[in-house]
Amino acid sequence: LRIYQTKDYQAMSRKAANIISAQVILKPECVLGLATGSTPVGAYQQLVDWYQKGDLDFSGVTTVNLDEYKGLDGKNSQSYRYFMNYNLFDHVNVDKSRTFVPNGLEEDGEKECARYDQVVAATGGVDLQLLGLGRNGHIGFNEPCDEFKKGTHLVALSQNTIDANSRFFDSIDEVPKFAYTMGIRTIMQARKILMVVSGEDKAEAVRKSFFGPCTPEVPASILQMHPDVILVADEAALSQIA
Ligand code: F6R
Repeated sequence: LRIYQTKDYQAMSRKAANIISAQVILKPECVLGLATGSTPVGAYQQLVDWYQKGDLDFSGVTTVNLDEYKGLDGKNSQSYRYFMNYNLFDHVNVDKSRTFVPNGLEEDGEKECARYDQVVAATGGVDLQLLGLGRNGHIGFNEPCDEFKKGTHLVALSQNTIDANSRFFDSIDEVPKFAYTMGIRTIMQARKILMVVSGEDKAEAVRKSFFGPCTPEVPASILQMHPDVILVADEAALSQIA
């Protein structure tokens, strides 16, 4: 584990964008595993900025996203497909046909999970997987549980996560209750993992994930077993680490 401590969210975003840029420059045909949520937004903005300045070329890049709400289509402004288009894909020269997100409209969970695992496998594997961290230690939508789930699967979101997501919806009833997510195996198979974390409300999750026991009760703690993890976090997020 390599930890980069940054002063604040902005510096965290810039550092993360630097690492993603390095990956794209060193391997223009790379596969990026991407995340949504509020934490990576600043890094995406920085990447867009550098692209617009001519420093980055995404034309050879393939992307696979971690997760998507079940029941939302890509045109729904709360879907993760929409989020990715809005925050990154619409502003850089990535080939949209090589940006993959689980299909939230597929009703048949088993079918979609098998299909998405094949999509990820067909890319040749993820070179760099970007992750955020949930306050309960979740990664993707792998929620605290009594076993690590392996491949892409359908999850019932925890009340904690539903509450956290409700800020994006007009009413709690509209918040999706299920999501498709890459599993722990898919995430762990990435060659390199880059986790971004900001804020004091994540400090306990950071401590438990990286310095506590490895347990499915803290899904991100599995990352202790991965040989190449970079944690980019601001001072507040690292405040519980001595
Ligand atoms: C999003 C995802 C989630 C988030 C996590 C943190 O694709 O996989 O695990 O990374 O919920 O979300 P934020 O960054 O909004 O605190």
